Amino acid sequence: MVKAIGVDIGGTGIKAGIVDLEHGTMASERVRVPTPEGAAPEDVLLAVKTVLKTLNVHESNLPLGVAFPAIVKRGMTLSAANVSKKWIGFDAERFFRDGLGRNIVFVNDADAAGVAEARHGAARDVRGFTLLTTLGTGIGSAFLYDGVLLPNTELGHLHYGEYESVETFAATSARERENLSWADWAERLQKFYSHIEFLFSPDLFVVGGGVSKNAGDFLPLLDLKTPIVPAIHRNNSGIIGAASLAGD
Ligand code: BGC
Repeated sequence: MVKAIGVDIGGTGIKAGIVDLEHGTMASERVRVPTPEGAAPEDVLLAVKTVLKTLNVHESNLPLGVAFPAIVKRGMTLSAANVSKKWIGFDAERFFRDGLGRNIVFVNDADAAGVAEARHGAARDVRGFTLLTTLGTGIGSAFLYDGVLLPNTELGHLHYGEYESVETFAATSARERENLSWADWAERLQKFYSHIEFLFSPDLFVVGGGVSKNAGDFLPLLDLKTPIVPAIHRNNSGIIGAASLAGD
């Protein structure tokens, strides 16, 4: 079995697993620790070391991919919405490479999820434009055309009304914070998805993030011209995509 390790750093949790690269499935249990308060680089590195140790791969030389919730260009993190501002303009790839003492591939979390779904999930063999969004602490997005990724689209940061970033209005964290019913939340999602549908005319929407397991509660409430389906790998897409990219 060809394998790689994927780590998905989120605003709330850090998740990791070993991935079977041929099938794009988990080849180990999934381990998770909470994201340290404030999510400063040193603390996140320690938490990543913990999950790698728990998986017993801290000394393995399998390829390692790390997904992170920020704009990532040439290994540098250029934004920080739900993590410490210390990540802005930070050489994150080198920081992890040095801290872990091994090579890594460092990518945006939604882009990783998009790659997983394009290679092994809901967008497999889909021609044209798949627009994947992750609904979690923030909103992430991935653009894939015929399976090819256009990285670092940040649709969660479109302005919406008085909100600087639409993710503050429509992410899962907003639903939880404001105790919204599925119907009330779906009204907000409707505004977000209608807007991006108009802007980008995708052929398929894929919805990832932990809440994709509840897709039946809110996706049927949306009225869009574009088909909208849950991510097949749900909250594991980030792990699987990061591992896949590391295995390339
Ligand atoms: C970040 C994105 C990330 C998304 C989902 C947003 O706040 O800006 O880079 O993909 O959250 O984690």
